Amino acid sequence: MSKELESLLKEERVFKPSSRILENSNVKRMMDVHNIENYEKLLEKAGNNPEWFWDNVANELKWFNPYNKVLKWDPPYAEWFLNGKFNIVHNALDRHAKGKNKDNIAYIWEGEDEETKKITFYELWREVNKFANALKELGIKKGDTVSIYLPMIPELPVAMLACAKIGAVHSVVFSGFWAKAFQERINDSESKIAITTDGFTRRGKMIPLKENVDTILDKTPSIKNLIVVNHAGLDIEMQEGRDLWWHEITANMEETCDTEEMDSEDPLFILYTSGTTGKPKGVVHVHGGYAVGIYATLKFVFDLKEDDIWWCAADIGWITGHSYIVYAPLLLGITSIIYEGTPDYPDPGRLWRMVENYKVTVFYTAPTTVRMFMKFGEKWPGKSDLSSLRLLGSVGEPINPEAWIWYYKYIGNENCPIMDTWWQTETGMHLITPLPISDLKPGSTVKPFPTIQADIYDEDGNSLKNKGGHLVIKSPWPSMFRTLYKDPQRYIDAYWSKFKDVYLSGDVGRIDEDGYFWIQGREDDVLNVAGHRISTAEVESALVSYKGVAEAAVVGKPDPIKGEEIAAFVVLKEGNRPSEDLKNSLKYHVRVEIGPIATPTYLNFVDDLPKTRSGKIMRRVIKAKVKGEDVGDITTLANPEAVDGLDRAM
Ligand code: PRX
Repeated sequence: MSKELESLLKEERVFKPSSRILENSNVKRMMDVHNIENYEKLLEKAGNNPEWFWDNVANELKWFNPYNKVLKWDPPYAEWFLNGKFNIVHNALDRHAKGKNKDNIAYIWEGEDEETKKITFYELWREVNKFANALKELGIKKGDTVSIYLPMIPELPVAMLACAKIGAVHSVVFSGFWAKAFQERINDSESKIAITTDGFTRRGKMIPLKENVDTILDKTPSIKNLIVVNHAGLDIEMQEGRDLWWHEITANMEETCDTEEMDSEDPLFILYTSGTTGKPKGVVHVHGGYAVGIYATLKFVFDLKEDDIWWCAADIGWITGHSYIVYAPLLLGITSIIYEGTPDYPDPGRLWRMVENYKVTVFYTAPTTVRMFMKFGEKWPGKSDLSSLRLLGSVGEPINPEAWIWYYKYIGNENCPIMDTWWQTETGMHLITPLPISDLKPGSTVKPFPTIQADIYDEDGNSLKNKGGHLVIKSPWPSMFRTLYKDPQRYIDAYWSKFKDVYLSGDVGRIDEDGYFWIQGREDDVLNVAGHRISTAEVESALVSYKGVAEAAVVGKPDPIKGEEIAAFVVLKEGNRPSEDLKNSLKYHVRVEIGPIATPTYLNFVDDLPKTRSGKIMRRVIKAKVKGEDVGDITTLANPEAVDGLDRAM
């Protein structure tokens, strides 16, 4: 058993929900309506009849035409809300912009330089309509793909919502990736339009995004136009006939735009995520089921009510931002914060001042951020009044009990339950998570959300109790991804082949004697660096694309703040000599090929990598060395001397 799991096994503290939160919670209200006594009974009822549960939720949303069947499950393919006519934007915007909530604030935006903007539901709706009309004028139709590469500025949700409104599919690429990643994703999705900005500042430094995009657009044949948001006011070159300013093409557009009536199962977006090969996976989500799943989880897990101020401090470029900054809060009609900058800039008091200024009530972040603030010390949150907070959340990686307790004490003032939500790009919504009415154990993601059948399997598909194994999901859920874009076979191979008709999450975990889940991390060659998924294969292929590099192996090295850091071992081709300069050039090369988050912290040159007789790199051995653990049985190695080489290199 690994050290992490052993330490989690010792965690025995339990935190009970306060009656104030319990009594007023959305989930309690729902249980009262259906005469359900307690959460266990709800789980039982929903587990026995998932269609009852999801039908109830879906009925809170507006359908152009009602569905006539809740679920068709033909493993590994699920269809939800069959034959329903629906558009997520009709629910996220249209119904609020015309209703009593029209002048409520949808987004409070704050720039890195402390500039702020408040945007009402009506104003957001109007901006979305104008931009949707502009896209239509440029020839974008239902089913076309639009690639978006924007920082955390209001135009990012506007662009996404405009695409969805007219039935186009958006593919957002995290603005922290380098432009090469944008190029690959444009080409895979064959987008006709790309959207970016002139530039934005990160820790006071200007990132000239448009200039970076210019370096790849001659390699993206499907792109007809590049739309540029004037955000930083940079003097940039616009290519005649191709490049268009956002403000110019929207200036004279109609303020209304019809919302396309989509089928529930029509695609809403593609979001690329890392898998075990060098090629990212295009995860496809749809309008109907996705909307219902994220709406239910935000409502019941984070218990949001109309007067809440919600801050999901993630980037919209990842699934957390897609689901819980853009779509779900708008579906619920509540106010969210969008923050452009970094949490500790210009000082580690920034986030907490914002919580005080905007009276944030529910705050959701990643354990890496909590650990970073732990390092800065409690004096920073102590400078601000955080008494508006009533609930906290965590996502992206396992939260160690110490960080959990710190978060609970110094951010939540021992008053705010922490919702440690387990989910993935593929799941679209929280799957294993506490609710505000749950007893909490620090470090545990508690139990599966109602209707979700999660389990821990051994190699042969037997359920395990109190033992580490594969985390699997045995039943479909509405916001599950429907396929991998243009790669249906990989959808089957990567997720549905190890165990028949069961979803393999790629994580390992354990269920304790109370049925609580403890997620330990990835079991495959996917790293989790500061809550972001990065595949070792992607970093390796970037390294070997550099001249002079013969081979590379990348593993995660445990880090107290980021969870994992990247450690790379590089074998050079004959005639190339290791040097500090080459080391730095290689690190920079990965940075440019993928992005700063993928830059190896440790890079070591070796003569050889440990390999099996069939030539496969034994990452297990390298991982053990990096962690300072025993390498175990190495009799199957073709070149045991390579293990000593690792020692010498580190
Ligand atoms: O390993 C799990 C970890 O993040 C992975 C999913 O990454 P991604 O698709 O980028 O989505 C991140 C945001 C949902 C999972 O396979 N993970 C996510 N949440 C948790 C977690 N690990 C432990 N505890 C969590 N709460």
